[in-house]
Amino acid sequence: MLNIEDLYSMKGKVCVVTGGSTGLGSYMAEGFLAAGAARVYITARTEATLQAKANELSQRSAGECIAIVGDLATSTGIRELSATLHESEDHLDVLVNNAGLGGGGYFEDMAKEDWDEIMDLNLTTPLFLTQALLDLLKNNATHEDPARVIFISSVAASEVFTHVMAYSTSKKGLEHLTPQLALALCDDNILVNTIAPGRFYSEMTKGAWIDPEAEKFKQEIRRIPAHRYGGLEDMAGVAVMLCSRAGTYFTGEVLNLDGGHRLRH
Ligand SMILES: NC(=O)c1ccc[n+]([C@@H]2O[C@H](COP(=O)([O-])OP(=O)(O)OC[C@H]3O[C@@H](n4cnc5c(N)ncnc54)[C@H](OP(=O)(O)O)[C@@H]3O)[C@@H](O)[C@H]2O)c1
Repeated sequence: MLNIEDLYSMKGKVCVVTGGSTGLGSYMAEGFLAAGAARVYITARTEATLQAKANELSQRSAGECIAIVGDLATSTGIRELSATLHESEDHLDVLVNNAGLGGGGYFEDMAKEDWDEIMDLNLTTPLFLTQALLDLLKNNATHEDPARVIFISSVAASEVFTHVMAYSTSKKGLEHLTPQLALALCDDNILVNTIAPGRFYSEMTKGAWIDPEAEKFKQEIRRIPAHRYGGLEDMAGVAVMLCSRAGTYFTGEVLNLDGGHRLRH
């Protein structure tokens, strides 16, 4: 008889979630711990918020949530995070490349520095952080129980958002990278998939949802086919599925987790 708890269990898994102090990253970290992960490392630049989230999640689960402070928009940040993880762990089961930056503005006003910052954090870092942690991801991976790499794209990759051109382009790049990296890493028993969220409650989108009575927010909710923003359960549910036995036959895939947003823009 199929045991549904085992199917979605992440018992004993060691995970890393970049940008795990708030929003989607914190939802996935909470999901992994609730599913039985032994250790979840979360990273961000702002130490106080990051440490508070790590304490909160550790207190609420049997596993441990560990904070690693650093700026992942730079090669130095990638090297430092990799060095810390190599000191602490002999393997990793899950890497979620979640830290990301919105914006970039319209073409007319776009500054090269803004374009570079968004491309670095959203597209270049996920690739090179995965490369820096490759040996740890390989170490425990088997074809029955593969390691997982997850990228976080956006509905902005499927739609044309001229006001955040750099952001949309960086996320489209991630989606194109997904099958290529999945193929490159398949013989190492590493699965590579992307989640493309629609509108979720987080710090990044706070300006849009902070006043639920605002007419602009109500209009947006009417337009989204699911008639709501996504939250903790939506994000944690899909991330746990992808990283447990349940998701072991997905690789090179982009999962649109958007309540149908891209169907009615
Ligand atoms: N919320 C949505 O509706 C939505 C929709 C589609 C896609 N996404 C994607 O989901 C991911 C998470 O976004 P979110 O909405 O959850 O935003 P958020 O609440 O602002 O979280 C962003 C996280 O990334 C960290 N971060 C930002 N810049 C960083 C850097 N240079 N180095 C290391 N960490 C950094 C932040 O902490 P610090 O600022 O302290 O570093 C924070 O932990 C992003 O990739 C975003 O593009 C979000």
